[in-house]
This record gives sequence, structure tokens and C-alpha cells, in this order.
Amino acid sequence: MKSKANVKGHPLHPILVTFPIAFFTGTLLFDILSLCYRSWHFWWMGSYLEALGILCGLLAAVPGFIDYLYTVPPKSSGSKRAITHALLNVSMLAFFTIALVLRHYTNTSAAVIIVPEVLGFIVICIAGWLGGTLVYRNQIGVDPRYADAGKWKEMTIHSSDNRVEVCGINDLKANQMKLLHLNGKRIVIARTEDAYVAFDDHCSHKGGSLAGGSMICGTVQCPWHGSQFSVIDGKVKAGPAKAQIETYKTEESNGKVYLVLH
Ligand code: FES
Repeated sequence: MKSKANVKGHPLHPILVTFPIAFFTGTLLFDILSLCYRSWHFWWMGSYLEALGILCGLLAAVPGFIDYLYTVPPKSSGSKRAITHALLNVSMLAFFTIALVLRHYTNTSAAVIIVPEVLGFIVICIAGWLGGTLVYRNQIGVDPRYADAGKWKEMTIHSSDNRVEVCGINDLKANQMKLLHLNGKRIVIARTEDAYVAFDDHCSHKGGSLAGGSMICGTVQCPWHGSQFSVIDGKVKAGPAKAQIETYKTEESNGKVYLVLH
């Protein structure tokens, strides 16, 4: 599921979270060093890093919240995990903010101030672990399309003909797909290294959109659970899908590609 908060396809949240993680880890390390060596230099370094960490944490939360609203599927395990991830991060920011306030506005000893920082550091590790699961297992922010598949293409046609013009012969690059909404049915028009092909967008396993997956060397892979199908005859090349997908005939003439319905 591609992130809505991205720069040229690169999701912003995973990039920005590296800063608070680094700054808060540095905070804890410098504060421990200042305790060990009784050094005010280390203590002030920890203080600056803590303030920067809070600032960057708030900044990183913005694309994270956008991803939660527009990328994480509602009522999914990813949604529950994302809420836990967000709550942990809010708690982590609260721990470091408490430490910063104690440090600057009270006479609390360094040994006590380190306590919320240690708690914040533990929480940031758990939140980071969940963030990793959200990316690598729930695929939040992952664009599963083949890197050279070109821009996303989509088109709606209403036609009662059996032979429908769907694109120009040079409109798609090799391994690029286009999602066609034809009279309410979702069909993928794709260009392999050899020819144009057409097949159902609906994965026979649990209905994942194949146009949002990747296609390489005549095989399309579903982005949901990885089933693979031949784009030539629709046969299953790898499960968990068991049933094949429907394929359609295409014709090329006068620089145009036509979809031929049965
Ligand atoms: S929905 Fe396509 S593999 Fe599960």
C-alpha cells in the first residue's frame, strides 16, 4: 500500500523517524556519560539532543498520521498495530519531554532525570519494532509494483462492443500494466516483452488487485499474499491461490491495442 505522504514514491515517515531515534539514543548516552564523568559538556549535549529529538519526533508524526488516515486499511491488523505504534510514540515523546522539563525547570538530580529517558528509550525500541512489522508484514508504505513499471495508469470505458480500443501500441512499457474499468469490470491490460495481454484484476485467492502488484517475465504477482499467475493463460504459478484467473484476447492494429471480449 503506497504511502500518501511521499516524495517521488519514497515514504516520508520511515525517513524522518531516524532522526528522533538517533537524537534520543544520543541523549541517553550523553546523559549516562555525564553521570559517569561528572561532565557538564556531556549534560548540555544531551539536553540539545533531547530538544532536537522532540522536535523531529513531532515532525515525523505528521506523515505517520497521514499514512494512518489514507494508507492503512481500516479494520485490518495493520490498523490496530498502527494505533499501538502511535500511542507508544506519543508516550515516548512524553517521557523525553518530562525529562527535558525536569532538566531545565527544576533542580532534579541527573540520576532521576535519566529514569524517564530510559523508559522512553525502551518504548522507542518497541514502537520501532512495531513500525518494522507495519512495513515488512502489513506492507504499509510499500509500493509492490515493479521499479521500472512506469507510472500508474487507469482508464474507464463504457462500451457494448466486443472489441474495445484500450491504448496506443506505445502507451505502455514492457512490464507495465494499466487498470481498465470496463462496464464495471476490472481488467488489466499489460505489455510483456513480447506482446500485449489482458487478464482479470481480481486475484482468485482473496481478491487482491493484480494491477497493483508486479509483473515480470510474463508472471504477475498479487500484492496481498504473493500468488503468481501466468499473464498468458492465467494459470497459477505459485500459491496460495489455487484457481486460475481469466485472461482475454488482445489484438494490435494501426498502432492501437484492442481488447477482444468473448
Ligand atoms: S489475495 Fe492474492 S494472493 Fe491472496
